[in-house]
Amino acid sequence: MSAPHTPTSTPSTAPPASADSARPGISVRSIVKMARQGDAFACLTCYDATTARWLEAAGVHILLVGDTAGEVVLGFPNTVHTPLEFLITLTAGVKRGAPSTLIMADMPFMSYQADDAEGVRNAGRFMTEGLADLVKLEVDRSFAPLVAKLARAGVPVVAHIGSRPQQAKLQGGYLAAGKTADAALALLDDAKALVEAGAAMLLIEAAPAEVAEAIVREARVPVIGCGAGPACHGQVIVLQDLLGMTPWQPAFAIPGAEVGKAILAAAKGWVSRVGARELGAHPYAMSDAERDAFTKAVALRPRAGSRA
Ligand code: KIV
Repeated sequence: MSAPHTPTSTPSTAPPASADSARPGISVRSIVKMARQGDAFACLTCYDATTARWLEAAGVHILLVGDTAGEVVLGFPNTVHTPLEFLITLTAGVKRGAPSTLIMADMPFMSYQADDAEGVRNAGRFMTEGLADLVKLEVDRSFAPLVAKLARAGVPVVAHIGSRPQQAKLQGGYLAAGKTADAALALLDDAKALVEAGAAMLLIEAAPAEVAEAIVREARVPVIGCGAGPACHGQVIVLQDLLGMTPWQPAFAIPGAEVGKAILAAAKGWVSRVGARELGAHPYAMSDAERDAFTKAVALRPRAGSRA
């Protein structure tokens, strides 16, 4: 990719033009329409423009530039470390790669919790610099005033409830949510308060299916599930889980490919081809005249280490 572009005989690896690549751009309104019609929509995480192009060609409706980028791209042990500037930059790259797809940007830890004005400004940065269509915040009902301020400012918000990985340090790990009757009722109350405050969508992570079903029944907005059962209007998983690149996957994220193994085989092949000096065709040639001139000029130059 970084070499000057020269036509080669290698087969094209551009995403195929599919029926879906001609689809009109996906908007919040089209997702609402799909949810009302009972058409499930697909969401995947994505962190770069090249992959975004393929996912758009596949017809994925929403790409989430998740704070999981901190784990998947940067190798941190959890999402608490994901930097704000980094995520804004990645979001813009994903939108450039998939301009007809709805792009959801994750607001990372401490980009909105300290005070509401900072949260509104940072959400604005995701939309202006990051080209995001929506922002996602991990929240409970105590964040309803912030969600209302964002909605008032024209920022479509996805309220991420249930398991909230940004609380991992406080909770001592990633915990499922809503597993007792009281916790389930609290989740229903969170959903209600956040939708009333103006959330455009909900995302429920790691909760029992019947709790998500109750939220879907009550909520007037599309509900995305991530390990929350089949009643949700849309579903999201981490792309690298789907591609079979992560060491383990949650039970609801069944890999659809073995990309990790494909990378291993291709990289091993490269190591041995480099060792055997078996490269592809060499596209950068000199004319005979330039080669003669170069050879003569080199012969006249003092050799390195010799006295001038
Ligand atoms: O950041 C992320 O990838 C997420 C999904 C797991 C829902 O929030």
